[in-house]
Amino acid sequence: MTRTPLIAGNWKMNLDHQQAIATVQKLAWTLDDADFDYEGVEVVIAPPFTDLRSAQTLIDAEGFKLILAAQDLSDQDHGAYTGDISGEFLAKLNCQYVLIGHSERRMIHNESDQLVHAKVLAAKRHGIVPIVCVGESLEQKNAGQTEVPINQVLEAVKDTGISELVIAYEPVWAIGTGEVATAEQAEETIRGIRESLAEQVDEGLAEKTRILYGGSVKANNVAGFLKMPNIDGVLVGGASLDSEEFANIARFREHIGV
Ligand code: PGA
Repeated sequence: MTRTPLIAGNWKMNLDHQQAIATVQKLAWTLDDADFDYEGVEVVIAPPFTDLRSAQTLIDAEGFKLILAAQDLSDQDHGAYTGDISGEFLAKLNCQYVLIGHSERRMIHNESDQLVHAKVLAAKRHGIVPIVCVGESLEQKNAGQTEVPINQVLEAVKDTGISELVIAYEPVWAIGTGEVATAEQAEETIRGIRESLAEQVDEGLAEKTRILYGGSVKANNVAGFLKMPNIDGVLVGGASLDSEEFANIARFREHIGV
């Protein structure tokens, strides 16, 4: 089965709504100028919440083929949850994807596997595809705990009945550090995640789920990852803030020559 590659940009807490407009415009124009094949590669951006309405309006008005994601959502749908954002609101803004359990949320906001699981259910209720982020810390890596990302995936998706899912394997030691996992290392872990998903959740789901690599991805290293049979895309942080660099990452096929 062929899985459509997915290139996602996680802006984190960068770019206000005015900067977002300029960045989205530049990204779309750069890709359009290069005759980008949007059918063959999905390009997703995850701006801060306060940028989403501006980005959505622009994308709709101009007919850009960029897809919106949110960086998080509440596990609740509405009510007395000050500061939280409902999946219902995100769906209304045409967010097709939502990042769940990014390592920065797990670390800074103490998000547990249980909460990640509840957020996956919330995304499902609102028809938003979760991009579940997993990855081991440096200490866990040094202790040989290779099962960490697999367990995080299983905790997130088991018993959810989810039928569409994206997973982003992001070794915490590779995020924003410039220290990149080798393509072989990433492939091995990602293959392990896919096998466990098949064995313990659902074979069909495992086969069709896109599993991305994330952590210090740039235009000059993206091709190595995407050559691997189990790596179906990348989740890009820092390098997604620069439209030209991000467009170059999305055009990875030209680097691979396929
Ligand atoms: P980075 O971030 O590309 O800046 O390492 C990746 C991420 O956190 O999603």
